[in-house]
Amino acid sequence: MAMKLLISLLLLSTYAAEAQVFDVTKYGAKPKGEISQALLSAWKEACASPTPSSVVIPAGTYTSNEVTFSGPCKAPIEMKLVGTLQANPNAASFKTDGWVVFEHIEGFTLSGGAPGDSPNTDGIHVGRSSQIYILDTDIKTGDDCISIGDGSQQVHVERVTCGPGHGISVGSLGKYPDEEPVSGIFVKNCTLTDTSNGVRIKSWPASPGRTTASDIHFENIIMNNAGNPVLIDQEYCPWGQCKSLDPSKVKISNVSFKNIKGTSSTQEAMKLVCSKSLPCENVEIADIDLAYHGPEGPANYTCANIQPKFTGKVNIPEAAATCGGAAHA
Ligand SMILES: *[C@@H]1O[C@H](CO)[C@@H](O)[C@H](O)[C@H]1NC(C)=O
Ligand SMILES: *[C@@H]1O[C@H](CO)[C@@H](O)[C@H](O)[C@H]1NC(C)=O
Ligand SMILES: *[C@@H]1O[C@H](CO)[C@@H](O)[C@H](O)[C@H]1NC(C)=O
Repeated sequence: MAMKLLISLLLLSTYAAEAQVFDVTKYGAKPKGEISQALLSAWKEACASPTPSSVVIPAGTYTSNEVTFSGPCKAPIEMKLVGTLQANPNAASFKTDGWVVFEHIEGFTLSGGAPGDSPNTDGIHVGRSSQIYILDTDIKTGDDCISIGDGSQQVHVERVTCGPGHGISVGSLGKYPDEEPVSGIFVKNCTLTDTSNGVRIKSWPASPGRTTASDIHFENIIMNNAGNPVLIDQEYCPWGQCKSLDPSKVKISNVSFKNIKGTSSTQEAMKLVCSKSLPCENVEIADIDLAYHGPEGPANYTCANIQPKFTGKVNIPEAAATCGGAAHA
């Protein structure tokens, strides 16, 4: 139950070299201590700085009460998390529904530990957390811009631009035993540019335990040359890491992809591949307008173990009778 957000950072920072550093420990933050006031004081000074600044949370584990970092700031600003920031376990005292909120900031970078081209460096990873808001943020990274892991509940991602990066993902799920359910995920008004994937839900085959992912909604998303823009992949197996290709045991239900427009860099613009043993249920696909301009022909759509409900206008023809589901107009 303890609210814990691990912002496992990892963005490319283009100006970190010359940024002025505002170290929270100079503002009273102590490891293992509650540091919201120190964070706010450091943020306030950094935000007022006329030159690029970096608020640094050094190595160590810190806790924080709810805190909102507001802009506008005078120059680009970075929050650099080297240590680990956890929510104060006494979450019942929280007055608002956000824990760490960034708002009204231009030129904001959340960054830390890892070089931009390294694998598995998610921009923001959310896990075992609830009531998380990621708003008005520009993310460039070598892995997922945002990944939403097991145990995430009520996560709102709005007006985020992503790219380069691997897109915005729920998952990967189903790799470990005892994963907690994911539910209440709302990704809205985001723009993905030159990303290798778009918006997706991914789970590993042959999961050691059973879990669920439900109430997940992607809406008003613009794709500029994004690969696999609309994707459910329950056979997610990068680098051939899977011991077996048995069906995923993550049950996906109550999902929508609505108003997703733009261009795809892969012919397969929409792919919905669900688990053979636990088919996806109640998935709505509405108003999809994705174009592919490669030599192979127009964008196509494939699916398995799902019978999506199509509404509005969907301009991608079904590739083949692989869906095991109803055809659409
Ligand atoms: C989100 O996108 C929709 C559709 O493009 C638009 O009508 C709406 O104004 C946007 N909302 C915000 C808050 O940007
Ligand atoms: C899915 O939605 C239906 C209808 O709204 C609801 O009854 C059901 O409990 C939901 N399932 C999950 C797993 O959230
Ligand atoms: C759909 O696109 C994929 C990826 O390019 C391709 O392998 C497949 O043959 C296409 N299907 C059809 C029916 O065009």
